[in-house]
Amino acid sequence: MKYDFGMVGLGVMGRNFILNVADNGFTAIGNDLDDEKVNALIEEGGDTKKVNATTDSKTFLDSLSTPRKIMLLVPAGKIVDIVIEGLLPDLDEGDLIIDGGNSFYTDTDRREAYLSKKGINFFGAGVSGGAKGARKGPSIMPGGNREAYQHVKPIFEAVAAKYQGEPCVAYLGPKSAGNYVKMVHNGIEYGLMQLTSEIYDVLKKGASYSNDELHSTFHQWNEGRLQSFLVEITSEIFEQEDDLGDGRLVDQILDKAKQKGTGKWISQNAMDLGIPVPSIDIAVSMREISALKEERIYADDLYDRPEVEQLDKKKIEKLTEEALYFSFIITYAQGLHQLADASKEYGYELDIAEIAKIWRAGCIIRAGLLADITNAFKADPALPNLLLSPTFVEKVQGTVDSARELVAFGAGNGIPLPGLSNSLTYFDAYTSSRLPLNLIQAQRDYFGSHTYERLDRQGIFHTEWEKE
Ligand code: 6PG
Repeated sequence: MKYDFGMVGLGVMGRNFILNVADNGFTAIGNDLDDEKVNALIEEGGDTKKVNATTDSKTFLDSLSTPRKIMLLVPAGKIVDIVIEGLLPDLDEGDLIIDGGNSFYTDTDRREAYLSKKGINFFGAGVSGGAKGARKGPSIMPGGNREAYQHVKPIFEAVAAKYQGEPCVAYLGPKSAGNYVKMVHNGIEYGLMQLTSEIYDVLKKGASYSNDELHSTFHQWNEGRLQSFLVEITSEIFEQEDDLGDGRLVDQILDKAKQKGTGKWISQNAMDLGIPVPSIDIAVSMREISALKEERIYADDLYDRPEVEQLDKKKIEKLTEEALYFSFIITYAQGLHQLADASKEYGYELDIAEIAKIWRAGCIIRAGLLADITNAFKADPALPNLLLSPTFVEKVQGTVDSARELVAFGAGNGIPLPGLSNSLTYFDAYTSSRLPLNLIQAQRDYFGSHTYERLDRQGIFHTEWEKE
């Protein structure tokens, strides 16, 4: 028997994805060097007769129908190259390799160029939704050769999460478009997570919210315009009892946030492209500050901090809900702005409405807001920034005052709200027709003869600033 789909890497993501493929009527075979993982998959899915697994690469490749559709769910980096080299001698022209990991987009470009010379189609496909998403329906972001995508399209559409019946997968563009879009997804993910943690802090410190109150507040928000996966899981986190001690688990978790690097990549690339994404940059920086736990403990003793003023619960709940909604919008706006500019720079031909559409379910940043974002970009596909969409003007205008009040409250009371304040600053700067950077131009020209342009006439000017 020949299998429809192959998976290399039977860790939790690979195993779950393959079981999902089988649930949707396709046959699939997995390959891993680890006997235990191979046996575990056979045990879990073998009865269906739709799933098999082997440690032997040759058997794996011989068991696949052609063109072979082989997905890799292995750790990003060197291992991807090693796996590709291992498969290569037994592949045929026209076969597809789909890298489903969080590979860096330039690695995908390199691999795609290398493999296309050998007649092999290489896809970088971001897969979001964690282990549960892989099992029940992830959001999939594939990029590569458009014609070759048709071979895997029916499988991906079947396994992907559905939003009102529509699959959360679409061909996104050539080369590394899929990995790039996933990288930006992760940057937005970092931004939203940072904002959520700030709101948690302010509710706790500014109005002594208990974990039960936090649970019910986030739960209630998840029923409204803040409806999103991250708000939903946040609400559940506050309920979780600590199995190893008394009270709630969240209070015992060390406040050092780890990162695998994808959030950092978006900031680095945004700097290279000259695109401002400060809500995402600060989310990366905050994970770095959080890692300095020992220094933070020492510094805490050196400085005084204002006593936190207590706010009325009704008031703080309104402020935080509105500020969170405002800053979520700003974070999506920055990420999507980066996608639009990167698309021009790298020739991805991205359709932003299509991307927002496949993020509506399955992925970590899924949110009710994405339906509105999809519609905004459908109405104007060339929209340079979400903040310029007429439908978003009202949403932002209606919530920005709460963001201002909360940022001022944080600053006055020594509660760090950097994601929120960076979002507000970005908004205030982006919507200012005149910024004070004329002075920077004057300074540059003063000390370095770097020249400047004028408001009132065309041309490049230089002034001898120094008086004798
Ligand atoms: C997803 C996630 C996932 C990511 C983890 C960890 O979309 O399912 O983005 O791909 O790897 O969230 O990321 P960090 O370790 O960088 O927080």
